[in-house]
Amino acid sequence: MNLLIKNARLIDPANDTDRNLDIYVEDGKVAQVKEKLELRSMFGFVEEDGEGLYQVAASANDPVHDQVRVIDASGLIAMPGFVDLHVHLREPGFEYKETIKTGAMAAAHGGVTTICPMPNTKPVIDSKEAVLDELKRAEEAVVNVCPIGAVTVGQEGKEIADLSGMKEAGIVALSEDGKSVMDTGLYMQALRKAGELGLPVFSHCEDRSLVNGGVMNLGAKSEELGLPGIDNASEDIIEARDIIMAHEAGVHMHLCHCSTKLSVDIVKWAKSLGFDVSAEVTPHHFTMTDDEITEDHGRFKMNPPLRSHTDKEALIYGLKENIMDTISTDHAPHGAEEKDQSMLKAPFGITGLETSFALAYTELVKNGPMSLSDLVTRMSVTPSALIGINKGNLKVGKCADIVLADIDHEYEIDPDTFLSKGKNTPFAGKKVFGRVMYTIVGGRVVYEG
Ligand code: DOR
Ligand code: ZN
Ligand code: ZN
Repeated sequence: MNLLIKNARLIDPANDTDRNLDIYVEDGKVAQVKEKLELRSMFGFVEEDGEGLYQVAASANDPVHDQVRVIDASGLIAMPGFVDLHVHLREPGFEYKETIKTGAMAAAHGGVTTICPMPNTKPVIDSKEAVLDELKRAEEAVVNVCPIGAVTVGQEGKEIADLSGMKEAGIVALSEDGKSVMDTGLYMQALRKAGELGLPVFSHCEDRSLVNGGVMNLGAKSEELGLPGIDNASEDIIEARDIIMAHEAGVHMHLCHCSTKLSVDIVKWAKSLGFDVSAEVTPHHFTMTDDEITEDHGRFKMNPPLRSHTDKEALIYGLKENIMDTISTDHAPHGAEEKDQSMLKAPFGITGLETSFALAYTELVKNGPMSLSDLVTRMSVTPSALIGINKGNLKVGKCADIVLADIDHEYEIDPDTFLSKGKNTPFAGKKVFGRVMYTIVGGRVVYEG
């Protein structure tokens, strides 16, 4: 089925577009982008055969009829689908938390049309076979799935994984997410290999020896709650190390979930030297601070932790100034019981796919300093470019991965509406603007609000 999206405000930064344009989608691709497209002037034969469905053909006698669905997008924004470079889908091994299928449905609900699952599954995605198995499982996913492979076998930090085999199988990046490769010599070897293979490396930056059992940000709040804290230095030190190492090794370094002020300064410094680096920020780190933690509960626990007001403001500044390149969620679903306990016991991580656009729009655009076009760049254009996929662009001929959203619609975040198996979020009840109304992947409507 083809689609005619009418009356949307199209924000397509890759083509410098922000105006009202209609979009015709044919065979999964953007076929026309014009003002006031009408089926009756596009086709010789048009017949309505139901609600918003039309049969069209070159002429009444033409045997080839296509079906077109017309979507009235009046009042909606059309954007290239979001690309989330950092999610955890838990399959194989932890299907009670999430499966590739439910994670993909959650993505569609959030307007995310491409997701990059991290390899910390069980078994770890560290071989060609594991990647092929993941891609096979992903065939039933409603969004595009681009796997990330582990840096070391079993993420144990002892032996480099089969990087070239995984590359052949189709990974888009390497990452040891969940931890850092603390053996600098081994990581350097892996980075050199990744550079030769042309694979970007996504670093989770955390010096375990400094974290030392911490469960939340170190500060007044951790003291008040009597919980062990995680200082900024445990993150900053490894960020600086990994950037320097990647430069030496000749590989692109992408810093995961930067949460500190100094991380912004470090990335700015590295870019000023021409280093090949990029950095991501999660919606929770630019929306919430540790002093908003109301009790010792697992829903507030993630790694890196919610930081201070100063850190949050620096991250927003970094995103606005394009020092920080992308917004990724670190979507980390867990079981309800696991999270419904003290931070001392709960696992790290919160879900993110179904709240990312609303949080980002509300915090950064509606109540913040950024333009909607720059937000789309951080959520779609730049992440696509970083992993070298042909997305984030709605020019004629490009793949029709499109999100339609109502940015004037205010609503309360309600985990009961999540399609993810994970309901673990600290944002329940938060009022946000920006509801995803349609998500289209390769010309197919995969979510409709
Ligand atoms: O909060 C987090 N959750 N941070 C990580 O680094 C890992 C992730 C997970 O896998 O749950
Ligand atoms: Zn991580
Ligand atoms: Zn992660």
